[in-house]
Amino acid sequence: NWSMDDFIEMQIKNIREKVGDKKVLLGLSGGVDSSVVGVLLQRAIGDQLTSIFVDHGLLRKGEAEQVMESLGGKFGLNIIKVDAKERFLSKLAGVADPERKRKIIGNEFIEVFDDEATKLNGIEFLAQGTLYTDIIESGTDTAQTIKSHHNVGGLPEDLQFELIEPLNTLFKDEVRELGERLGMPHELVWRQPFPGPGLGIRVLGEITEEKLQIVRDSDYILREEIAKHGLDKDIWQYFTVLPGIRSVGVMGDGRTYDYTIGIRAVTSIDGMTADFAKIPWDVLQEISVRIVNEVAHINRVVYDITSKPPATVEWE
Ligand code: XMP
Repeated sequence: NWSMDDFIEMQIKNIREKVGDKKVLLGLSGGVDSSVVGVLLQRAIGDQLTSIFVDHGLLRKGEAEQVMESLGGKFGLNIIKVDAKERFLSKLAGVADPERKRKIIGNEFIEVFDDEATKLNGIEFLAQGTLYTDIIESGTDTAQTIKSHHNVGGLPEDLQFELIEPLNTLFKDEVRELGERLGMPHELVWRQPFPGPGLGIRVLGEITEEKLQIVRDSDYILREEIAKHGLDKDIWQYFTVLPGIRSVGVMGDGRTYDYTIGIRAVTSIDGMTADFAKIPWDVLQEISVRIVNEVAHINRVVYDITSKPPATVEWE
């Protein structure tokens, strides 16, 4: 595709001119946008780029490893991985309210990033994966706040950096195309949306290490099965949630009293409205059997059949 190649060349030229021999910082979330910015900048300015990847302990199974291997390994980005799990979990301990959880995670994220950034010297630029749509949407604040969205792109206001936003004329599908042209792996470029607060809003109510593990393991099984049945292209987003209720079941010849897992899968264009995905019954059955057999403390699996509105995509 000639026009995307032209875009890449032009951006590389612009970035080089703007940055000169100065240093650039990037907050990597593991999502599509910041990853594409990282690879583009790496191509333009090489090791003048430093990336910070905050592992808040609320990532999906294998996610942090994938970021480090792919972006840090294959693409050679210089990534500072911050293991901030304890910091986040201790701040979240005992907190059940969804909005408070979101605020805590968002604020803590900024603090961790800030701490790391101030350890680095001589950085003059901050790169962000802002899209064209992000700019349009933040221009209209008519919408009542349903949830305080935390986006990893939203970073410290008091850090004095000049911004570099090479994606700010692009739509999401163009960013994916750009990623493909930059040689990024398909799984990364076509990754489903993942919220900034991560699994923190998929363990409903109070977050514990055990509950996170249950969501992580069941989510992994769901993702495996969806991919195995070739449904990943048709479903916008699919994940598991732990409502925290327990119910009675029977396994072998014994009574169980254990957790229920919810499966959420939706089709959507932009996340603003969504329909629950009509996953075939036999696929759902396989998923259910595997989750109950392979994930400890689960004895029941339910499927969320509400659309947005009236429900939202995430349960918190
Ligand atoms: P809701 O739950 O509001 O989600 O229907 C719509 C889409 O937004 C994602 N989402 C978030 N993305 N930070 C994000 O970057 C957030 O705090 C956040 N909360 C929800 C959600 O996964 C869905 O794709």
